[in-house]
Amino acid sequence: MPNRKFRIFATADIGDATFHRLRQRGYEVEIYPSPEPPPKSLIIEKVRGGIDGLITTLRDPIDAEIFEAGQDTLKAVAQYAVGFDNINRADANRYKIPFTNTADVLTEATAEFAFFALAALARKLWTAEHLVRENQWGYWHPSLPFLGDEMTGKTIAIIGTGRIGQAVIKKCIGFDMNILCYEAMGPNDKLVAAVQEEMDLRHQHGLQRERTSIKYVSMDEALSQSDFISIHVPLLREGESDTPTYHLINERTLHTMRPTAYLVNTSRGPVIDENALAKALKEKWIGGAALDVYEKEPLPPDSPLRDPEIEDRCRLYPHFASAGRTTRLSMDPNLGMAGRCVQGLIDILEQNYGGDVTKMPYVVNKEAFR
Ligand code: DGY
Repeated sequence: MPNRKFRIFATADIGDATFHRLRQRGYEVEIYPSPEPPPKSLIIEKVRGGIDGLITTLRDPIDAEIFEAGQDTLKAVAQYAVGFDNINRADANRYKIPFTNTADVLTEATAEFAFFALAALARKLWTAEHLVRENQWGYWHPSLPFLGDEMTGKTIAIIGTGRIGQAVIKKCIGFDMNILCYEAMGPNDKLVAAVQEEMDLRHQHGLQRERTSIKYVSMDEALSQSDFISIHVPLLREGESDTPTYHLINERTLHTMRPTAYLVNTSRGPVIDENALAKALKEKWIGGAALDVYEKEPLPPDSPLRDPEIEDRCRLYPHFASAGRTTRLSMDPNLGMAGRCVQGLIDILEQNYGGDVTKMPYVVNKEAFR
């Protein structure tokens, strides 16, 4: 138990159990009461008011203004998300304020969503259900009113082979898929060896008819030789990295894809140039796209992605990939975003790991404390 009363402001309700855990430890917790994000001015006001910890989500811009307001008092920012492109890392480091994220616990939920979204898109589940609901299903017919494309036995490109990309790969093995990987940081040979061994075993035991393979290739090869493409890169803007990912999918890269290819994005919206994608769907440069994330969220009413002409090949979801009950709410830090977020906050405030931030597993910006 801490020997003083920490004050916390949470910009969103991340579950009763979370706040109960903090209050049981004597913390004073204030939760922003509305479902929409609080204005930045309110976050600044709370930080200036002397809170010790700030619980944030991907909707909150956390930058120098916030860190400056809390420079003498704010001890921790606990982000309820794996992505932290809303937090200015350089600013956090300048003010020496550690921030945490919730990596790992949403890996499988996001990966299965990406896989399901691709399958639903290719097999036209949305269009097929509409047919029935709108009373347009008149008869069974071998090929009318349309056919979908199977995933089993096809080739998938995994763009970004970090945690979530690897989790998608695991699912693709079970669907007898060939896998082409692209990773800006270079190939993961251990991953290739392990996956190839599993593929070979499945083939030897007659669990799949054809021998399948996994390999790293260039981005253009991955895009041009695949039936399915799944994006799993962090958002890195120009100047933030030698290999920026902003508009990685653009007119040029869309043109390298097969006219039958299906694309899914569960990473960050600005990785795709949405105007280019809408054009690609309209002019049928690719087979279809499923998006869970957007350049601007929520998706604006006038987005070209809403064009009814591309409706049957463009699935739109509300940044929903990690939205599984256990993933979002479990208090177990090895299972749930809520549990991990709170544990990261407690570690910093209660000086676990001997107070050494660099040893705390959920702290992101360890470099500022070395
Ligand atoms: C994340 O955590 O970054 C996801 O985009 C939302 O859960």
